[in-house]
Amino acid sequence: MTKKWMIRETTSGDIAQVLALYPLAFPEEELRPVVLALLEDGLDVLSLAGFDGDALVAHVLFTICETEEWDRTGALLAPLGVIPLLQRLGLGSSLVRAGLERLEKRGIKQVFVLGDPAYYQRFGFSPERQVLAPYPIPEEWADAWQSILLAAQAPLAPGRLSLPEPWMNPVLWKP
Ligand SMILES: CC(C)(COP(=O)(O)OP(=O)(O)OC[C@H]1O[C@@H](n2cnc3c(N)ncnc32)[C@H](O)[C@@H]1OP(=O)(O)O)[C@@H](O)C(=O)NCCC(=O)NCCS
Repeated sequence: MTKKWMIRETTSGDIAQVLALYPLAFPEEELRPVVLALLEDGLDVLSLAGFDGDALVAHVLFTICETEEWDRTGALLAPLGVIPLLQRLGLGSSLVRAGLERLEKRGIKQVFVLGDPAYYQRFGFSPERQVLAPYPIPEEWADAWQSILLAAQAPLAPGRLSLPEPWMNPVLWKP
């Protein structure tokens, strides 16, 4: 049975716990600088965390983005992490679903992710070919670049996704 976790948007008081989570969830990747920049630079993001009591045990970030400057109705889902002890208990899925619901309410049309299709297809993500990632994705990983349309909305105009500066680092775009 899926436990009921408390999910809420993070505040500046949660940043230390958010940063402590990422080396645990991604021992081979350094995601703290990009997460910190996205949370601290006043950028348009949705930051949601799952709590077990007072302990922050899962986190997801969505960065609002666009392919055309006037149409900021896209969002990038990344990163998503759950502490190892509580993985595969439904927490990651709950965070993704809560995020998609909130984004839909604020008029976001399409959400993008670079990740394992085996995981993301359960939410309705499918390979994306019209909107390109900021950096080329190797052909063998092409299906890892995915998107989902929210509330039967029209997709973003084809083109390269435009993201704020913290994301403009090719190292972050290796699947
Ligand atoms: C990937 C991750 C966010 C999933 O969250 P979670 O709470 O552990 O997973 P959930 O309980 O929501 O979902 C479990 C399901 O996802 C599958 N799953 C979990 N991690 C997976 C992965 N990396 N790839 C594919 N499937 C995965 C499980 O097999 C399970 O499938 P089932 O429901 O068919 O049995 C979490 O395991 C994690 O933080 N992993 C380490 C960091 C990472 O790889 N993040 C990926 C972000 S792109």
